[in-house]
Amino acid sequence: MKFLKLALVLFVFQTQAQQGGMWIPSLLKGMNETEMKSLGMKISAKDIYDANQSSLKDAVPQFDGGCTAEVISDKGLILTNHHCGFDAIQNHSTVEHDYLRDGFWAYKMEDELTNPNMTVMFVVRIEDVTTKVMEGITTLATEAEKQKKIQDNISSLSNSLPKESWQENKIRTFYDGNQYLLFVTETFKDIRFVGAPPSSIGKFGSDTDNWVWPRHTGDFSLFRIYADKNNHPAAYSADNVPYKPKKFFPISTSGVKENDFTMVMGYPGRTQEYLPSVAVNQIVETLNPAKIEVRDAALKVQDRFMRKDQAIKIQYASKYAGVANYWKKWMGETKGLKKANAVAAKQKFEKQFQEKVIQVGKQAEYGNLLSDFEKNYAEIKDYALARDYFTEVALRNTEILSVGYKLYQLEQLLASKGEQSFNDRKNTLSKGIDDFYKDYNAEVDKNVFEQLIQLYAAKSPKQFLPESLLNVDASQLTNAIFSNSKLTSLNAFRELLEGDSKTVIEKINNDNGYQLIKAMANAYTSKVAPTYDALNLKNIATQRTYMKAILELFPNQRNFPDANSTLRVTYGKVKGYEPNDAVYYEPFTTLDGVMEKYIPGDYEFDVPKKLIELYQTKDYGTYGVNGKMPVCFIATNHTTGGNSGSPALDANGNLIGLNFDRVWEGTMSDIFYSPDICRNIMVDARFVLFIIDKFAGAQNIINELKLVQTTKKK
Ligand code: ARG
Ligand code: GLU
Repeated sequence: MKFLKLALVLFVFQTQAQQGGMWIPSLLKGMNETEMKSLGMKISAKDIYDANQSSLKDAVPQFDGGCTAEVISDKGLILTNHHCGFDAIQNHSTVEHDYLRDGFWAYKMEDELTNPNMTVMFVVRIEDVTTKVMEGITTLATEAEKQKKIQDNISSLSNSLPKESWQENKIRTFYDGNQYLLFVTETFKDIRFVGAPPSSIGKFGSDTDNWVWPRHTGDFSLFRIYADKNNHPAAYSADNVPYKPKKFFPISTSGVKENDFTMVMGYPGRTQEYLPSVAVNQIVETLNPAKIEVRDAALKVQDRFMRKDQAIKIQYASKYAGVANYWKKWMGETKGLKKANAVAAKQKFEKQFQEKVIQVGKQAEYGNLLSDFEKNYAEIKDYALARDYFTEVALRNTEILSVGYKLYQLEQLLASKGEQSFNDRKNTLSKGIDDFYKDYNAEVDKNVFEQLIQLYAAKSPKQFLPESLLNVDASQLTNAIFSNSKLTSLNAFRELLEGDSKTVIEKINNDNGYQLIKAMANAYTSKVAPTYDALNLKNIATQRTYMKAILELFPNQRNFPDANSTLRVTYGKVKGYEPNDAVYYEPFTTLDGVMEKYIPGDYEFDVPKKLIELYQTKDYGTYGVNGKMPVCFIATNHTTGGNSGSPALDANGNLIGLNFDRVWEGTMSDIFYSPDICRNIMVDARFVLFIIDKFAGAQNIINELKLVQTTKKK
């Protein structure tokens, strides 16, 4: 009897530990709903997603293409991360009105700031369209023909499937092409900036604390959706009115405790949970280290300039943060994959897989998948490495090369599509170019250039380098380019673009900066890309069959589809973790920790005076708990990039915080999730309320919200 009980406890513990997964909201009934309830959820799958009635998903839009937001009032007010609103906040900032430094609050709706091009997208409903998308492919002979037919089916279905005139049909693939779902969406285009704390709160800890727990960042900002008089999406107009949502989240002021149920809804971008061991090994040993080294060099230079010049700091803040973000993530990921022995764990699964294939007699269909992977990944290695170097050095981190590459594409376009396309592209290019040079500093770029060209020549696979970079003297090349090239300033760049196509092509080809990027791009497109693309296509096809086999042969495994920027639900429990031997991290942080980290005047760890006063007087209003102000917390929710700004919900579906990061030791969860160490990081909703109310004094915003208390205050 006792033994049985123990076995039962062990079983329950097993299923509770077995978390992870990003699930499709319309398919939670069954296994997920049961599991969620066993973890403590009080609401039902139907409360989360319902095609016919308002449900939680109606309050969770994608924010500006790459993040998530949540609706928190009946007047279209939305909450997302500070780092998601960062570009917009930067765009509204100048050295005189620095909203990044000082924060911004609209104390009345008229003060809200418009953001050209910003969008917010809601999912109206989700439908399985797999059979329709797959129609007519079985008779086709080659993989390429099948893929073409699928693409044709997708575009004709997107046009023909029913939707309202203001909506869009989007068909997305799941399980690497084994399932297709239709998302009917609505995209709002008049989004106004409502408020954000200063960076010393919204980005407190900055890059030092990024991806790190314990964390003390108030990473939030507020926007408002405006709609036309029919409550439909419309371009910006002074006549637009605040959007009336189908659903908005009440905010809990009670918080959560360790082991409480939490769930996160949002738009995770990309994961690769079903990669074979050989691919994971390549990421750990070859690709991540290369990308990290390039970014490391670029960031060191930018940091040096940003620390001594406020104007450069504003110019480079957003770029730097973007580059630093994945630089640091890859380091954590590499370390985590090694520590968790992900390659060995994958190998173990592959052994089981191979046995299972034989057991069910599917050798003909699935028997060669793993050896195909092995062969392909060995062949693609140098090409993949050269591709990463080209992307990181030329397209991502050296600014004149990246802008020069746009001219390269322009020249290619003239050759392939002719005069008209050339002129159209030239016009778009010259329209967007002001924005580029507004944040460009040639001195910074020159120093980055020298470092990265050196690295490129030394480390990118030699057999693919252009002639001009073999045995190059990097400092000589740098001086030659930065004293002559017209790519280094807005006016010179404009001059290059003047004239008809023939003149432009002649001028750019006389520019030594352009000559370099052209040589690099030509070498890349002729020697690397064709083979890379062919091998990559093989890997994609093998991965699709491998995924199909896993679904078929291991149906009881938790097979969630990889992230693909579509709406997902992930759930788990509030939990601390043990990053290293003898070290345990608690799941909650408080304002005390902000003050422990405080370094007066430091650009990462300064604290606003007002916040220090509130801390000293313990003026926490109703948001504090036992004399302390909660700031952040962690849980076992399986999240990734794109989940930034996602609502964190309690067992009743009330908002308890917003997701903004993961812990360093667990960033490998994009490839290999482990419930022991993978944690998502959320700002506590009470900290958000405290900052809006006590720090900013924005009562107008507090009055719009619906606050609920689910437990008695002690
Ligand atoms: N790591 C988080 C994410 O992936 C936050 C990034 C922004 N913050 C920063 N310090 N760069 O987006
Ligand atoms: N900060 C990430 C984002 O921008 C979310 C953190 C993660 O990657 O888990 O989406």
